[in-house]
Amino acid sequence: MTEKDFLTSEYSSLKNTGKVRWKSPSNIALVKYWGKKKNQIPANPSISFTLHTCATDTSVSYRKLDKKATEFSFDLFFEGKLKDDFRPKIETFFKRIETYLPFLREYHFKIETSNSFPHSSGIASSASGMSALALCLMAMERELIPEMDTDFFNKKASFLARLGSGSACRSIEGPLVQWGKHSTIEASSDFYGIEYPYKVHEIFMNFQDTILLVDEGQKQISSTVGHDSMHGHPFAEQRFGQALKHLSDFQTILGDGNLGEFIKIVESEALTLHAMMMTSHPYFILMKPNTLEIINRIWSFRKSSKSNVCFTLDAGANVHVLYPGKEKETVYEFIKSELLQFCENGKHICDRTGSGAKNMSKTPAT
Ligand code: PMV
Repeated sequence: MTEKDFLTSEYSSLKNTGKVRWKSPSNIALVKYWGKKKNQIPANPSISFTLHTCATDTSVSYRKLDKKATEFSFDLFFEGKLKDDFRPKIETFFKRIETYLPFLREYHFKIETSNSFPHSSGIASSASGMSALALCLMAMERELIPEMDTDFFNKKASFLARLGSGSACRSIEGPLVQWGKHSTIEASSDFYGIEYPYKVHEIFMNFQDTILLVDEGQKQISSTVGHDSMHGHPFAEQRFGQALKHLSDFQTILGDGNLGEFIKIVESEALTLHAMMMTSHPYFILMKPNTLEIINRIWSFRKSSKSNVCFTLDAGANVHVLYPGKEKETVYEFIKSELLQFCENGKHICDRTGSGAKNMSKTPAT
């Protein structure tokens, strides 16, 4: 499918009022997206675990305006409070998607959103936040076009979410989502994420992700600046080639459940992401001393215990500790006794792979 397939001709009629609500999870990339082209097209394909616990719950109440608005008309409430700082992000998002959702200027929206994780935790809320909002808008469109099937609904939700924040397009389905064109992955697309289409060993259906909050502060570098730093980066081409190879290698690894090889790729991807940051112009370091301390402890524990625990990082100092569900007790004991001392006030979040976003429209608000 191409961009044109997501254009909508005029709706036959518009509803006057209504309310939709979706809960959408965060995701953690195994093969990382770092570097993009125009219109949020990734420089290389990526794959992620969809998470279960870290999520954004968003409802959109809509009321038809008497006449089409010149400015987008909305109020945004974050955790119950009017939040004007988020307006510019939403305005940019609406501008990017209005060609695909022509009803946007016809309504006033009340957007109410909350996260299951602390806002200042350093966990990016853009993936769950943008995907939850995209899903709400798609739910509205489906009310106007009731014959829309689930496959199209998911693809267009992912397509729109991508225009809000690239990685958000990987938060619609789960437990493994691939985004970005790859020659050996049929149906893969630069425009939206797809549920990984090949065999996935059951071990990956219940993988644990304990997120260690090393640094609760705001990120020093926005991901937009980070992606831009890949333009003219001395190692960009090698990096993009490496990501393509890692995805090809993943095909047998994910099918066979080969954890040894899985770990090699996942940890290499995390360190390569940060190596790209350290070798760009301007250069920067997002890892903290405690990030390195945790990584070294994971390596020692893995060696001595023969566990299959490993780590990944996103664009920050926090560490995602990944391990199979069947090692849950032993690894969590290790985390408690050895790793939590390196977290801010011992803070961490126990998450695991999940199956994607949920329609909450019929669930009463809490
Ligand atoms: O979706 P963005 O623009 O916030 O970029 C996400 C970048 C990484 O989290 C570092 C990697 C990824 O693939 O999620």
